[in-house]
Amino acid sequence: MSQNILITGVSRGLGLEIAREVLAAGWNVYGVSRTESPAWQALQAEQPERVHFLPLDLGEPETAAAAIFEQLLPPGTPLHGLVNNAAVAYDDLVTNLDVARLRAMYAVNVFAPMVLTKAAIRRMLVEQTRGSLVHVSSVSAHTGYKGLAMYASTKGALEAFSLGTAREWGARGIRSNCVAAGFMATEMSAKLTDEQRQRIFNRAALKQPTGLESVAATVVHLLGAGAASITGEVVRVDGGAI
Ligand SMILES: NC(=O)c1ccc[n+]([C@@H]2O[C@H](COP(=O)([O-])OP(=O)(O)OC[C@H]3O[C@@H](n4cnc5c(N)ncnc54)[C@H](OP(=O)(O)O)[C@@H]3O)[C@@H](O)[C@H]2O)c1
Repeated sequence: MSQNILITGVSRGLGLEIAREVLAAGWNVYGVSRTESPAWQALQAEQPERVHFLPLDLGEPETAAAAIFEQLLPPGTPLHGLVNNAAVAYDDLVTNLDVARLRAMYAVNVFAPMVLTKAAIRRMLVEQTRGSLVHVSSVSAHTGYKGLAMYASTKGALEAFSLGTAREWGARGIRSNCVAAGFMATEMSAKLTDEQRQRIFNRAALKQPTGLESVAATVVHLLGAGAASITGEVVRVDGGAI
């Protein structure tokens, strides 16, 4: 049966790759991000009947969730999966912490996924779908990296939220898991220097960036029937990082 999957942050990077793999699995994609990249537009053009899009800013979580569940997935549209992938990285030393920037990051990385989870579960209950929630976390929440304390804290919050959600809604067949990705070569990590990059690779057993395809395939697995007994988990896809 075809499934409807809502994915945030589809314009580029991991979100775009997840959208590709969700389509390859035969499911329908409902994507959001602020902009539409040429790569995303090309994906839409390939299968317009299965790829849907709404441009919006997740920095306003409640407005964004209302628009998604009224316009992109209007009432009566079943939802089988939510992938909370969109995020921003505010990297700096803790001694430079700026509360306005921290708040803006928490709005996108934590509040938006939580508000979308609320709306998604409500839709799953109304439509009686045993849905799957997947949150994209980061290895930085587990290993710690200099300069990433604030960013990593958003992922730690998401992981705790996911575990509680799994406990709360498991009896209704709704699952919640996280995929903690290692360093991937995307726009988010593009500002790192070669030296910083090398330091990160040296902390991974595989000594290379984490493949987008490997992370996306894990997300798709957690969305599907093959993961029917997996909930409350954090799956690390990070090349063996320490
Ligand atoms: N890259 C890494 O090394 C790494 C490592 C571990 C975990 N992660 C996680 O992996 C996920 C994907 O990251 P990525 O590397 O693919 O990042 P990316 O290339 O920067 O892409 C981020 C996506 O999120 C969207 N987005 C950002 N702010 C938004 C907002 N306010 N409203 C709506 N959409 C917004 C962006 O679209 P628009 O700009 O068009 O809005 C874009 O599609 C994130 O959760 C990230 O924390 C990344």
